[in-house]
Amino acid sequence: MKHLLDVSDLSIAEIDQLIDTASDIIDNPEKYQEKCRNKKIATLFFEPSTRTRLSFEAAMLELGGSVLGFSEAASSSAAKGESISDTVTVVSCYADIIAMRHFKEGAPMAASLKSNVPIINAGDGGHNHPTQTLTDLLTIKKEKGRFDNLTVGLCGDLKFGRTVHSLINAMVRYDNIKFVLISPEELRLPDYIKHDVLDRNNIEYNECTTIEDAISELDILYMTRVQRERFFNEADYERLKDSCILNTEKMKKAKDDMIVLHPLPRVNEITTSVDEDPRACYFKQAMYGKYIRMALILKLLGVE
Ligand code: CP
Repeated sequence: MKHLLDVSDLSIAEIDQLIDTASDIIDNPEKYQEKCRNKKIATLFFEPSTRTRLSFEAAMLELGGSVLGFSEAASSSAAKGESISDTVTVVSCYADIIAMRHFKEGAPMAASLKSNVPIINAGDGGHNHPTQTLTDLLTIKKEKGRFDNLTVGLCGDLKFGRTVHSLINAMVRYDNIKFVLISPEELRLPDYIKHDVLDRNNIEYNECTTIEDAISELDILYMTRVQRERFFNEADYERLKDSCILNTEKMKKAKDDMIVLHPLPRVNEITTSVDEDPRACYFKQAMYGKYIRMALILKLLGVE
């Protein structure tokens, strides 16, 4: 049995295989509509979600399976003080696979130690979000056609942004990747990622504070939200929330084939006028999320 806790649990060959399967599902959905007949996914979401939870549920339904779960801790027995271990021990008697989001870093790892079925980390605190990264990789493959020779701008909350941390971990394995880290000083990428991931893999990167400083050199601009829920006080959030905003004026300085990604939800870091720009791929990215999660469910359940 295999879990997905971190994107580095998957080899490059396994990621390629997932992308191939997702592409085949997009082209031939009818081939897959009975693949998970009589299988159930439990979505255990202790933190809010729209895309991740609903795309996992849509993925299982489109594979012919069923879904159960909860969308907030308050409606589960966690509200009565039940531990993650006990919850998962029980739910793994009811479901064939579990997707879990939790506000505590490491919670899906703790769950995996007790589970009789595969656990998928659907986001743990400010740590990791591996299925978002698989979504991002499928989008990059579809829109850019390659994972190498790319200059990637990562913009916004690089300190607490789990999608950014996972994406960096995935992309450092490809050739000739350069990162431009765009954020206010207070939301810089943590030193442990700079040292243990970027430096250790000899990845070129530089840091700046404005989109204008970087946008003309980028192949991909990955925008993220400044996350109110990760701040210890509201005043800091208010001061930093509008640090980096992408608008149509700034898009004029970008390459014609640059793509804009965002894991969503967006607050106001991308003005809605950018949505009309053909380089804005974030809604397409959300759509790809369902297909890569279908491929992942098939893989973890060992369905041919
Ligand atoms: N990208 C993402 O994780 O979105 P949700 O929080 O809506 O699941």
